Amino acid sequence: MKFESLRIAGLRCLDGVAVTPSPGINVFVGSNGAGKTSVLEAAYLLSHGRSFRAGSRDVLLKRGATSLSVFAEVRSADGRVRRIGLGRDGSRWQARIDGDQAASLGALVQECAVVCFEPGSHDLIAGASDERRRFVDWGLFHVEHEFMGRWRRYQRALKQRNALLRAGGAAVDDASLAPWEAELASAGEDMTAYRRTYLDRLLPHVRSFMNNVLPELGVFSVRYRPGWDETEDLAATLVSRRLRDMARGHTTVGPHRADFSITFEHAPLREHLSRGQEKLCALACLLGQASLHAEIRGEWPVVCLDDLASELDRTHQEWVVAQLLGRDVQVFVTGTEIPSALVERPVTVFHVEQGAVTALL
Ligand SMILES: Nc1ncnc2c1ncn2[C@@H]1O[C@H](COP(=O)(O)OP(=O)(O)OP(=O)(O)O)[C@@H](O)[C@H]1O
Ligand SMILES: [Mg+2]
Repeated sequence: MKFESLRIAGLRCLDGVAVTPSPGINVFVGSNGAGKTSVLEAAYLLSHGRSFRAGSRDVLLKRGATSLSVFAEVRSADGRVRRIGLGRDGSRWQARIDGDQAASLGALVQECAVVCFEPGSHDLIAGASDERRRFVDWGLFHVEHEFMGRWRRYQRALKQRNALLRAGGAAVDDASLAPWEAELASAGEDMTAYRRTYLDRLLPHVRSFMNNVLPELGVFSVRYRPGWDETEDLAATLVSRRLRDMARGHTTVGPHRADFSITFEHAPLREHLSRGQEKLCALACLLGQASLHAEIRGEWPVVCLDDLASELDRTHQEWVVAQLLGRDVQVFVTGTEIPSALVERPVTVFHVEQGAVTALL
């Protein structure tokens, strides 16, 4: 998938911005605070329904503005062009596809694939488990269309069971809990199977990148923990956890607690990795995800590299650029100047200054 155009209004310092990126490597250059990362956030918003930076989607709204919108024309490898958009007017968010209101945010997200390596990406390795669940689930949303339905059913049932647990008292009995637990178990076991299969397919892709970026750490492996102790199935576990869950006021077991960990032969604990190694590990995972996406969907997602020159040493910058130059992939890179690895490469450069984006000829 490639962006043919991107129009941004009311997002942080960007207003009335129109970008026509090239299908190859695009570099956004400008001083600190100019709005470079915000351009990537706009692209990412269409693909994830949220930002990669901390905070709710609502902090993206330009100070003092009442509406925000990002529209794009995206072309897929089969030549199909779609017009997609996401906007906030007042307190409501609305997604649009080809002029019509999208059935859901999920429908929009499935039309747009962007992976982003940015200063917070090490959270994929060192951060909380929800980062890793989001990573796996985002990949699945794009390559396994059945997954989103299961995910939605699971979230709905989880909300209902949690509401009952919080209400407590006479409202909570077998008759009220059992239907939601059956739903959680059925959707949750399916989700778990999809996630396992996904990770199995992802592993060789990540490995091929990991062998290049962190060869000194030796063989790596991934361990998936589904969110409950699998000596019992999820249905039985939910029943046996009822009293404890009631005391806690929420559901303490299930795929919403799942996680995976990466360990290396020479760094068996996450804490053994330096911050730079965490970043490289996250980069290998993101490129691996993009590569698996390409294998299944027949095209690469858009790859964003925010602040490339300050995130990676020169050797790794050159490595990642070499990986991408040889492929049919659209890339958005940001920096205060053109990263040395991209000097004298065929790139399209945009200058960003105080929220204005201009193509340099
Ligand atoms: N909600 C908001 N409304 C208005 N301006 C905002 C909002 N949030 C952030 N900004 C401003 O938008 C500008 C652009 O930020 P952005 O992070 O995109 O800059 P950048 O070019 O990536 O800078 P850096 O090189 O420091 O990473 C900053 O000046 C920031 O203060
Ligand atoms: Mg930035």
